[in-house]
Amino acid sequence: MTRARLVTGQYRIYLLVLGLSGVAGWLLSTSNWSFSLTSQLWNDVAVFAVTAILSEAWHLRGSFANISNSVAFVPLFSAVLLFQRPIPMLIAGLALAVVETFVRRKPLIRVWFNTAQHMVAIGLGTAVYSALGGAVSTTDFSFRLIPFAGLIGTFFIINQGSVSAAIAISNGLTLRESWERIGGGARVYDVLASSLAILLVFLYVKLQFVGLAVVVLPLFLVRQLYQMNQTLQTELEEKLELMVKSIEARDPYTSGHSRRVSEYASAIAREVGLQVKDIDAIRRAALLHDVGKIYEEFAPLLRKQTKLTPEERIVMQTHVVRSAELLSPVAKFKGAIIEAIKHHHENYDGTGYPDGLAGEQIPLGARIIMVADTMDAMTTDRPYRRALTLQYAVGELRKHAGRQFDPRLVELVSKSRAIARLLGAVASEEQEAKVGQEAASGKSLSAVKPRWATLNSDRVGF
Ligand SMILES: [Fe+2]
Repeated sequence: MTRARLVTGQYRIYLLVLGLSGVAGWLLSTSNWSFSLTSQLWNDVAVFAVTAILSEAWHLRGSFANISNSVAFVPLFSAVLLFQRPIPMLIAGLALAVVETFVRRKPLIRVWFNTAQHMVAIGLGTAVYSALGGAVSTTDFSFRLIPFAGLIGTFFIINQGSVSAAIAISNGLTLRESWERIGGGARVYDVLASSLAILLVFLYVKLQFVGLAVVVLPLFLVRQLYQMNQTLQTELEEKLELMVKSIEARDPYTSGHSRRVSEYASAIAREVGLQVKDIDAIRRAALLHDVGKIYEEFAPLLRKQTKLTPEERIVMQTHVVRSAELLSPVAKFKGAIIEAIKHHHENYDGTGYPDGLAGEQIPLGARIIMVADTMDAMTTDRPYRRALTLQYAVGELRKHAGRQFDPRLVELVSKSRAIARLLGAVASEEQEAKVGQEAASGKSLSAVKPRWATLNSDRVGF
């Protein structure tokens, strides 16, 4: 991100925090403060405040944008069924402020953001719950589905919506993509886990502390479910990373090529307006598009400094099929990913390989990788020439649109600001390499941070 964009992003985050604080303040000021603080009420509130703090502290770190997931919403929902507003809001605010400050040790702005958004999510959830006729009592248990559904719906929309907005602003993603990534496959768990709040209220009303202890076990199981879901995702990403590194180890010159192609390909897929799962499939396919080159038969061809002979070129062309074969046992790659890899050298006019597909017959992912692959080849240094500029690269894409490339994709790429920014990142990466060389040769060192690194970093830890 450029400095100007970062500043605008920060400014928008402050606005978001300010807006949330305003709504939280309004919810607090319109609450019913005329309750008598008996020692029993103090006890009940303290029990749920401590439970909320402990569940919040027992969080999981998400793989996307470093967000934290916890099961604290279970005791918070219970608090809504037990206490009138503003008490549930205050418990939510206290739990988040304490955990964010002392456990996660986040900067003040994030502590504030997370505290405010939880207070608004619980505050509005409480308002919706009451408006739909939900009862509040610490002594009588009563449950009605519609008000409770209103509560959980409101809470998750505000909670995940505001985190999505913050991440969209900071990472330059669309709100939709950020929302889809945050929820992932976990939204079903969210609804299932929410029902534990009803059990917690029932047991607390009937059995007090003993009831609370009974719910700890299912709460633990729910957390394990979240963890399993997350570990599976992380493991897959790590394996992919390992595979890519092992291919690139053969040819240090193309180091970083696969990662850059995958970034360009996902940027193009975003411009096309694809859904998150399709963007991710294309990103993975792009990351692994040349994985078949790991086979021994390609090693001498990759090392060769001179032009390939026609026979060698035929062998080289088999890398697309070899890549697809290599990945075919992985169930997760079946379908779109393997098809995109197999056809990433098909030309739009049907003159490519391996099957000579043309136009729309070529899978969209493959057409995208073809453009992304060529862009990276042109805009990075090669043994025989320096990196070409973005304008030149786009000119070349335009020249071959309809023959080699899908003309609509070329049009999107030439207009895309996101891709221009990515290319800017490559330029600064090379600038950094140059600065490094200068430093080695005793020249002055100016700090150039590659913007490339910031794209996938965990800089934003909402
Ligand atoms: Fe290839």
